[in-house]
Amino acid sequence: MLSPSTRLALVLCSCTVLVAGTKLPKRGLSFDIHDSFAVSDLLKANQTDGAASWVYNWGPVPPEYLTDSGLEFVPMQWNAVGIENLATTVKSIGAKNVLAFNEPDMVGQSNINPTDAATLWMKYFEPLKATGVRLGAPAVSSGDAGMAWLGEFMTACAKCTIDFIPFHWYGMGAENFYSYLYEFNQKFPEHPLWITEFADTTPTDTAMVAFMNATLTSLSGHPLDEIDFVERYAWFAYNRTDNDGHNYHLLDAAGNLNAAGKMYALSAATDSVSSPQSSGPENTSSHPTSSGGGNVATQNTASLATSSASNSPSTSPPKNTGLRSSGSLVDALYLVGGTIIIAVVSASGATLV
Ligand SMILES: *[C@@H]1O[C@H](CO)[C@@H](O)[C@H](O)[C@H]1NC(C)=O
Ligand SMILES: *[C@@H]1O[C@H](CO)[C@@H](O)[C@H](O)[C@H]1NC(C)=O
Ligand SMILES: *[C@@H]1O[C@H](CO)[C@@H](O)[C@H](O)[C@H]1NC(C)=O
Ligand SMILES: *[C@@H]1O[C@H](CO)[C@@H](O)[C@H](O)[C@H]1NC(C)=O
Repeated sequence: MLSPSTRLALVLCSCTVLVAGTKLPKRGLSFDIHDSFAVSDLLKANQTDGAASWVYNWGPVPPEYLTDSGLEFVPMQWNAVGIENLATTVKSIGAKNVLAFNEPDMVGQSNINPTDAATLWMKYFEPLKATGVRLGAPAVSSGDAGMAWLGEFMTACAKCTIDFIPFHWYGMGAENFYSYLYEFNQKFPEHPLWITEFADTTPTDTAMVAFMNATLTSLSGHPLDEIDFVERYAWFAYNRTDNDGHNYHLLDAAGNLNAAGKMYALSAATDSVSSPQSSGPENTSSHPTSSGGGNVATQNTASLATSSASNSPSTSPPKNTGLRSSGSLVDALYLVGGTIIIAVVSASGATLV
């Protein structure tokens, strides 16, 4: 198919390109299906066109079907129960990353005070550092006490070698999500963030799809994949809708991916190639993620404050309709050191810029 006469255009792009079949290193599945249909449900996200790269189930040891999933399993030490086994478990499953206590700021969750959590973390997590494992802080909720809890923990745990900070968010609308995300980064600018639970709690397909469109694609908004200080994320949840108000799950009652589930798990309906105009040097005044370092809070927050309105799904211009209508074919996509190189073969000879 590639002949000398074929026009080949290489577009160097620092932006994220979502094409079905592309594994996205940040995207994860939070997976808590423990019924007989767990394997068949997982299969829907574990095909050649699956977008997720990692999985967790709030527990320390993966069930066999998650071990075999082809996805990195990230263990979690949910609370203090069994914490003395953490090192052995992490070693036995060969984990590269570990998550700590789940929503310790919530009485109904792991409910640990910051001082005790810091003591436990120093004793049971810190030693794993020497074995090359990357260590997460406890994951606070987006409730009123969440950030304050984490602030106290970080002070109490000042000598801890924390590699990343996970947190959760529930709310409505992408703009509220981004404003929380940037506030979080501003308060804890020294660490990359993992969003280990997030969901738009308006349980309609339309709201879910709009939210995902704004957070996962460059069609409308800025995708999490392009935000440097966001290291990973996992929607809540890769699970069947359970009629308990969690209608924002990614599978319907029969275990099929819903519209949002297809966008999330397969990158379906997000097929797009960012416009050539957006490649090259980054527009640092509008791009909230251009800084290479971890401490990007000031710039990002300022940029969000001035640009959030123009980032709303309804006002962003659609991008790059030209490339597709030219009949071009995205022939290959390589990930090279964080830069995505797209080889675009344009059989029709249409120019790309
Ligand atoms: C997911 O669904 C299972 C039922 O298969 C249920 O037991 C579990 O609590 C659900 N998990 C979440 C996170 O909603
Ligand atoms: C997931 O994919 C891997 C690799 O393709 C395969 O070996 C494994 O059996 C799959 N697991 C499930 C549960 O489908
Ligand atoms: C995402 O947003 C863009 C721009 O507003 C729109 O053209 C596209 O249809 C949306 N995609 C979905 C799946 O809603
Ligand atoms: C950069 O982005 C800002 C805000 O969206 C815009 O006003 C400006 O024209 C852009 N500059 C370039 C060179 O694209």
